[in-house]
Amino acid sequence: PLYKTMFGLSDLEERIRERFGLKGVSIVPGDSDTSPYTKRELGRAGCAALRKVMGKDDVVAVTGGSTLANLAGQMMTQAPLKSNWFVPARGGLGESLDYQANTIASTLAKRTGAQYRLLHVPDHLSDEAYMSLMQEPNVREIVEVIRSARIVVHGIGDAMVMARRRRVDESVIQAMEAEKALAEAFGYYFDRNGEVVHKMSTAGLRLEDIVETEVVIAIAGGRSKGEAIAAVMRFGHDDMLVTDEAAALEIAAIM
Ligand code: BG6
Repeated sequence: PLYKTMFGLSDLEERIRERFGLKGVSIVPGDSDTSPYTKRELGRAGCAALRKVMGKDDVVAVTGGSTLANLAGQMMTQAPLKSNWFVPARGGLGESLDYQANTIASTLAKRTGAQYRLLHVPDHLSDEAYMSLMQEPNVREIVEVIRSARIVVHGIGDAMVMARRRRVDESVIQAMEAEKALAEAFGYYFDRNGEVVHKMSTAGLRLEDIVETEVVIAIAGGRSKGEAIAAVMRFGHDDMLVTDEAAALEIAAIM
């Protein structure tokens, strides 16, 4: 039961931090799968983590998702962040409007007095269409800003849940199942060892950009996401993890 760890969350934070070589882990009590209150607290803890690392002139790239939407809706700063930019990490990945990275980036900018740029590139592009879009000067320009981000904040999902939410083709879903896709983050799909098993060609951050990004913050919680979070931590390019108790206990049980 959850109460057992009520007073030991900092110990759990430290164990997870050490195991995955992270700079910081923050765990809120409860389970966001079943408690909207915990999901809000997770968003709030995400805000705190982001504020801690943001500096002058930083570009922050954010993914979509309901967890990031929760973070964005609660973000506050003491002074307006006039020199900061919020941008979507990737183009449209087939999410509903509320959960799109563009929406999250603009909400964050409006709530903090920062600037934002949006990326209006649809998902499911053929390679040809993608290549020609990338030749467009205004698309190229925003993509360059995105790839220059010093900070990335992203959610983590269960691979199959995300593939279906994005209406990925059945044949692709089957291929991913065969490859044992377990987790999804920023449009990439990972197996339990953190190996990438599938990518979607959208504009925006590529894996090589994530690897190079100075500060990568993952925010995800809920018991059902424990394994997926552990998989993305094994991928090994996150610096900070903001999660909840239920997910943390799952992670600790398999790490
Ligand atoms: C997506 C992000 O939009 O949201 C993913 O691109 C993430 O990185 C997913 O896996 C998580 O969604 P949610 O709603 O569970 O927070």
